[in-house]
Amino acid sequence: MIIVLLGAPGAGKGTQADKIHDALSLPIISTGNLLREAIASGSDLGKLAASFMDGGGLVPDELIIDLVKEKLSMPEYNGGCILDGFPRTVQQAEALGKAVDIDVALSIEVPDEVIEERMVGRRTCPKCQTTFHIKSNPPKKEGVCDKCGTTLGIRHDDELEVVDRRLHIYHQLTVHVKEYYRARGTLKEVHGQGTIAATTELVFKALGIEL
Ligand code: AP5
Ligand code: MG
Repeated sequence: MIIVLLGAPGAGKGTQADKIHDALSLPIISTGNLLREAIASGSDLGKLAASFMDGGGLVPDELIIDLVKEKLSMPEYNGGCILDGFPRTVQQAEALGKAVDIDVALSIEVPDEVIEERMVGRRTCPKCQTTFHIKSNPPKKEGVCDKCGTTLGIRHDDELEVVDRRLHIYHQLTVHVKEYYRARGTLKEVHGQGTIAATTELVFKALGIEL
């Protein structure tokens, strides 16, 4: 099964991807996480990616399409996967459609005004990339990742100015990806402005997963 998760920055794609992974044991391919790992490793790809990501822009399609295709060709993704943050442009969606069949594209809908609060309070593990929120999803021990014990940090692109730019790009480009999947009958939409648990319930219902 291949699930595409769509939604604005901060809509909860990463949070819900983890819940689906726990329920279905499907591996996650998060392009944002892959790029942040490349940045942390100091690779050429990372340096190039950072030049786009730090300002809230998108990394060029060719680069990201090659990265995802390479991942999808690995045996661990033979049984399917959850795609978090890809595709983000119609060109990426078309390239993905040529490579694999998508079962469902699930869009998590959250109004822009809710996003700001989420980004300001987000804390991210620089090692395993698990996300927390100081109010809505705090770690068990303040400032420390529940999963791997690493000190949590704040993403460079979570500054409000950059968040605004990311939201702008989402409304300009990524919304068309929703229409791409709607036209193919694979789009499902859920409200994501409730609690994490309430959203998980809607996500599982849309995907036919029993709680
Ligand atoms: P990426 O890492 O994918 O960022 P994004 O899409 O902007 O989304 P986020 O990761 O910020 O948010 P999320 O939806 O995962 O929310 P989360 O679960 O963390 O991409 C980063 C950059 O990489 C892009 O800007 C671009 O430059 C580049 N890039 C990546 N993919 C690309 C592509 N395909 N093409 C080109 N460039 C690409 O939740 C957010 C916060 O809210 C957390 O603190 C969480 O705990 C909290 N929260 C979650 N759900 C709830 C809830 N229901 N109630 C309350 N709080 C909640
Ligand atoms: Mg994310």
